[in-house]
Amino acid sequence: MSEKTLIVYYSWSGTTAKMAKLLQKVTNGKLEEIKVGADVFSNDMYQTSDIAQQQLVSGELPEVQNISNLSDYDLILVGGPVWSGQVSTPVRSFLKQTSGFQGKIAPFYTSAGSDEKYETDFGKLTDGLDVVTGIGMTSGSLQNEESASTQLSDWIKQIN
Ligand SMILES: Cc1cc2nc3c(=O)[nH]c(=O)nc-3n(C[C@H](O)[C@H](O)[C@H](O)COP(=O)(O)O)c2cc1C
Repeated sequence: MSEKTLIVYYSWSGTTAKMAKLLQKVTNGKLEEIKVGADVFSNDMYQTSDIAQQQLVSGELPEVQNISNLSDYDLILVGGPVWSGQVSTPVRSFLKQTSGFQGKIAPFYTSAGSDEKYETDFGKLTDGLDVVTGIGMTSGSLQNEESASTQLSDWIKQIN
């Protein structure tokens, strides 16, 4: 593939990380993990959900590292978990860095199965950018790596 692809992802419990690694193999792109400080979230899902809600209400999104040279890429795949139907707060923080990006952006995400509003929310956070249709999976659908990779490679062909 001649396109230069960057795969950026946040993963709280490892599921999106798995999807991101499969996408790395499929695209041969560069993989970057979005990291937040160890004390930002809790190990407990419900507490993490409360912390994220507070971040949304206050507008104080978690700090994430700068991912350099985004403009070197033709396509950025942005991954993360679905949190309360929405884009997780670390991914929201990263998306602020994409303002003015000239290439294509596509969301990929994992959930427990309820992800219907995710891409609408993602679209609002990437207003003005060239955002293409994303792909969502569950940890169950990632268990069979071969079929997950086939789905991912079909998706990549569609959006390229
Ligand atoms: C704070 C929080 C909120 C969540 N909200 C949803 C949700 O709205 N819908 C859903 O299907 N799954 C929800 N989940 C489940 C995760 O989206 C799912 O387990 C995901 O695959 C985790 O990805 P990760 O391991 O990369 O963090 C939530 C999980 C957490 C921790």
